[in-house]
Amino acid sequence: MSDSLKQDYADDAVIHHHGPKKTTNALKGFISNPFVFATALFASIGGITFGYDQGVISGVQEMETFVERFPMNSTENGFVVAILELGAWAGAWLSAYPADRFSRKYTIVIACVVFLLGSSFQGGAQNLDYLMAGRFICGLSVGSLSMIVPMYQSEIAPPEVRGSLVSLQQLAITFGILIAFWINFGCQYISGEAQWRVPLCLQLVLGIFLGVGILFFPFSPRWLMSKGREEEALKVLSKLRRHPIDHPDIQEEWREIKISVEFDKELERHQYPQYQGGGTKNSMMIGLMGYRDLFRPGMFRRVAIGSVLMFFQQFCGTNSLIYYAPRIFQSLGLSGQTISLLATGVVGIINFVATWPTVMFLDVMGRKVTLMVASVFMTLCMIIIAVISALYQDNWEGNEAKGWGCVAMTYVFIANFAFAWGPIGWVIPAEIFPLRARAKAMSITTSSNWMNNFIIAQITPILLEKIGYGTYVFFACFCFLSFFFVLFFVPETKGRSLEEMDELFGGNSAATDNEILRRVEQQYSGTYVPALEKSDIA
Ligand code: BGC
Repeated sequence: MSDSLKQDYADDAVIHHHGPKKTTNALKGFISNPFVFATALFASIGGITFGYDQGVISGVQEMETFVERFPMNSTENGFVVAILELGAWAGAWLSAYPADRFSRKYTIVIACVVFLLGSSFQGGAQNLDYLMAGRFICGLSVGSLSMIVPMYQSEIAPPEVRGSLVSLQQLAITFGILIAFWINFGCQYISGEAQWRVPLCLQLVLGIFLGVGILFFPFSPRWLMSKGREEEALKVLSKLRRHPIDHPDIQEEWREIKISVEFDKELERHQYPQYQGGGTKNSMMIGLMGYRDLFRPGMFRRVAIGSVLMFFQQFCGTNSLIYYAPRIFQSLGLSGQTISLLATGVVGIINFVATWPTVMFLDVMGRKVTLMVASVFMTLCMIIIAVISALYQDNWEGNEAKGWGCVAMTYVFIANFAFAWGPIGWVIPAEIFPLRARAKAMSITTSSNWMNNFIIAQITPILLEKIGYGTYVFFACFCFLSFFFVLFFVPETKGRSLEEMDELFGGNSAATDNEILRRVEQQYSGTYVPALEKSDIA
């Protein structure tokens, strides 16, 4: 390669690293990246399992033959719902290691095998213990997928559509919840235990489809590079971007990934000289130190913001509706199982439909203002439901219109959650961390999501039973507080590059990191990509 070309590449690499990412609306980005879109879409089946497993329990637990088979008090009932979230909490923690060791792709396969096991336990459960075990095992898998899928998606995505691709996962979650509602609705007409066993077994199809299908999709090029499989990384990039390997864009992106992997290694050498030299003990210590690094100034603030954001995403009360909608609607005066299940199905539709605008325009919209607008409306909805329930809870007969008013408010509430807190709750934690800390940091923010989700699932039936309309006051308080949390603590991250994130969050490590980054860039920006055979060129 000529010196001037090398210099061009060097300049390009530096400019690309330090300039703000150009963003676009999802449609344009997807049309120009069909293979990436197809891969990300396929991986998001993981989101469908997440939504399906969360949503299916809501209708199933109201079915006659289910109640007969598993007679429960409200605490046990809450636990059947919540144990999935407990498993998911553990699953998120446990996934960082296999994701790095065995690849993102094979971790998805492992999660699917676990999912099949859990689904079989649930669908075939003869007693409460089996049911609980099945939900916990499925939870392990769902928690793992909720972290790995967005990570895999973001690692194959070109920067300009990364935000939309992450919210594709949320769209899949809402789709999973939606089909679970309607499958329950259809299955209630089946006689015998098949009415709940069928919806619980149907999820096996999702697990098999994802687990087998993902094998036909590529490894993450970033993971390949981190394992020193540089030529494969180049081939995958070429396939994903639909350019030959000697196309300047492919070579630039390959080089950029190479630089970031070398940067991580250099940083590790700088921070932990005592653990260099390989060996199991050293790599274990480096892995552990990675968690300690999350508590450094600058980084800790990000971990806290990501985790608190997940806290509010859950404590605003959405999942009380997702899990217990039929019961809530009955408590709001809707009579008959069919009517309340039908009203629940509408929740699913609204949740799915209202996520679309965010998928399409997230990379051009501001995160902060969207969250705050939603917090205001969600607070108002909860207050209105609380007031109407307080006035009419003992007297719904003759006041059906008031009951329907409450149902309408739950719809407005869910729409606001769906365009803001649902997707953005996942997007911000995925974009605020530097790449080297992303897996570990996301395992913490993701587990915060699941732990809080667990608490909500556990306490909702108890709250509904013990304090009635006070449940809505309780959620209104958290919706209200979430507004101020975003206002005072969450910076606007739209269109920010990695270095700007460091500046945005401050911290002592940023300057040293930048210094090392400059050095690594200078060293590798002129590197020529591996020469491959002509037959390898796409
Ligand atoms: C949340 C889930 C919730 C779903 C509803 C997700 O972003 O993490 O807990 O059930 O949105 O659509």
